[in-house]
Amino acid sequence: LVTEKNKENKREKWGSKIGFILAAAGSAVGLGNLWKFPYSVGNNGGGAFVMIYLIFLILIGMPLMLAAITLGRKTQLSAVGAYRSIKKNWAFVGGLGILCGFFILAFYSTVGGWVIYYCIKAVMGDLAIKDPNVLGAIFGDFISSPTSSIIYQGIFLILTLLIVIRGISSGIEKASKVMMPALFAMIILIAIRSVTLPGALAGIDFFLVPDFSKINMDVIMNALGQVFFSLSIGMGVMVTYGSYLDKDTNLIGASASIPVLDTMVAMLAGFATLPAVFAIGFKASSGPGLMFVTLPAVFASMPFGMLFCILFFILVLFAALTSSISMLEVCVSYFVDEKGANRIKAAMIITVTMYIVGIPATLSMGPWQELHILGNLNFFDFYDKLTSNILLTSGGLLLSIFVGWIWGAENAVEEIEKIGKKFIFASLWKFLIKYIVPPAVFIILINSFKDVIT
Ligand code: PFF
Repeated sequence: LVTEKNKENKREKWGSKIGFILAAAGSAVGLGNLWKFPYSVGNNGGGAFVMIYLIFLILIGMPLMLAAITLGRKTQLSAVGAYRSIKKNWAFVGGLGILCGFFILAFYSTVGGWVIYYCIKAVMGDLAIKDPNVLGAIFGDFISSPTSSIIYQGIFLILTLLIVIRGISSGIEKASKVMMPALFAMIILIAIRSVTLPGALAGIDFFLVPDFSKINMDVIMNALGQVFFSLSIGMGVMVTYGSYLDKDTNLIGASASIPVLDTMVAMLAGFATLPAVFAIGFKASSGPGLMFVTLPAVFASMPFGMLFCILFFILVLFAALTSSISMLEVCVSYFVDEKGANRIKAAMIITVTMYIVGIPATLSMGPWQELHILGNLNFFDFYDKLTSNILLTSGGLLLSIFVGWIWGAENAVEEIEKIGKKFIFASLWKFLIKYIVPPAVFIILINSFKDVIT
């Protein structure tokens, strides 16, 4: 039924292939790369985490990216419909993704709010400080004062809402063409400054040289969660985006370029942050504040540093928004496509609900820090673990089983080869998606469950 409806409506297509790449890369590149990756490296033992991250990226993330985009392109439907049109009772996987998007955005908006606050602080010239202790105090004071951080979280959600309400956002697509390369250039510059600071070598070492004794199940779980989170894989975003692709698009090129770009940004963010952390005498395991404390100190040691600081936080905000709109869009399009809801109304109701669910995450950084809702997890940590380690991971597992076994890897390859070109890595991809990804992700998922429950 839904297929019929979509055929009639002549589904919108991307303006260009580059439009698709920008939107998908926009979803992938966000706070996950700039904010989460560096502090996760810091919390999970440095180089060992990076090494496992890269292994998972190649063996699990990239094959799944291709699977998701191919499934979307084949069915020309967003996630729930895509699964259902191939196997009726698999629609729940799409539903799982919606739930996941909802919970990610609930705490993503906390951090999005911090970024807005830092944009303002940068413009006011309040961040021209070299001392990490002072910067740490500024950050600490802000996140623990509930009123302002809740207000900024709301502003971030309203910005997301406004973009989503205006439909498949051509304005964002256009802006991305300038903002994404600008962000890229900017991080390269910061990375160069960071690695040339006196005392940076220890940080480069920490970031790149794996200390195998640091590897444990936690590090492995977090590395996999980070791959899914960073690539926006496992919650239907890429299936939905793929559904807007034409039959003559080269799916392999599209699905290889997004992880490559995403990983380059994450690695550059690592180079921008971690060497500087060591140079300024901060702790790599300081958690979510790492970017907000370290980078202003790097800017303070650069010529025109404060100008760069302003520009940087604006670009981070843009990157965060291109990710948050993809999450809200997945939730909204479900209610519009499947339930016939009014787009604006649905978007508004979902955003308000997200805000209500998200406020406790913001409070976890201040008065509710010690309010543990499961084990020793406060709301923020709980949403984070629930999404990265459980929901996204389940979504990725089910996607691999679905494409590998239910729809069939053969059929997927046929769809990939529709452009008339042979997929030279077809056998390798089929092997990975059928025999490697499902058991590997399953084992890690079981451990995550154990971890969250105990
Ligand atoms: N990939 C985004 C980031 O790295 O910031 C976060 C994200 C967006 C995760 C969309 C999941 C998603 F579906």
